[in-house]
Amino acid sequence: MARRFKLRPLPNDSNDNKESLKMIDRREFMRLSFNTAAGLITMASIGSVGFASLLMGQPEADGGDTAVRFWVPSGAEDTAWFGDRHLEPMNYSAFQTAAANTKTGMIGAQGVWSGLPVNVVYVPHEENKDLPLVPDKPRFQYLDGYDLGGKYVGSGREVEDDSTYSTLSIHDNMIIIFSRCPHLCCIPGWQLVTNNYTGDNWASGGTDSGGDKLFCICHSSRFDPTAIEKNSMGRGVPFDFIGVRRTGGPAPNGMPLIPFVLNGDIIEALPDFKDWYAYCG
Ligand code: FES
Repeated sequence: MARRFKLRPLPNDSNDNKESLKMIDRREFMRLSFNTAAGLITMASIGSVGFASLLMGQPEADGGDTAVRFWVPSGAEDTAWFGDRHLEPMNYSAFQTAAANTKTGMIGAQGVWSGLPVNVVYVPHEENKDLPLVPDKPRFQYLDGYDLGGKYVGSGREVEDDSTYSTLSIHDNMIIIFSRCPHLCCIPGWQLVTNNYTGDNWASGGTDSGGDKLFCICHSSRFDPTAIEKNSMGRGVPFDFIGVRRTGGPAPNGMPLIPFVLNGDIIEALPDFKDWYAYCG
């Protein structure tokens, strides 16, 4: 029998729809991902670039439309560290507090920004960047990216060296990742399942070793949120992007970054590279 997953009902959904969405199997989950971007959007007839443009919010000092909000998957209310904060604006200090309770000092959370699924990951980069590369001392690493044909695309270091990507420059020990798996568009999460890839461990080099990967439950693709590279999207019409590295599984490449700023303690994303977030159509 196909494994079935429990979904959180949409905030404004009717009771009938809430009932029908309670349990879905993998095929239904993937169809929902294709059509609704994290199950939040019901504008499937509008192209992704179009709906991304429509949904990009305006800055608000109180954490309004540009704020990244926690998204608590159904069933994770009692297990995720942000389980009681569904749809609340993400605040930076919450990540710092949660990270202090992990072995690696890393912490991540699933979120939503302007209707788009994201993962926000805190890495103690400033604390560890000058230490020897040893296990469980994570920091961001700028790596070379190669396309599916093995052709060199570029380096993650371009976020620091190329003004085109200046808003993606690493800051505040944090990155935001647009989270549609480039395999078949499911939504990878942070430690929502338990396996060898999701434990509180870290290994250097952007390999499949260690834990603290973003993990896609659909067909087990893995992504290292500390491995920053430039790559070419292997899904849909190709385009170059800066993102996190795919380390294993059927996804052809990693997922793009989203620039952000801190507005006081609130994490707000920027729409500078919104064309990168349309590959799932
Ligand atoms: S959709 Fe993510 S591994 Fe297939």
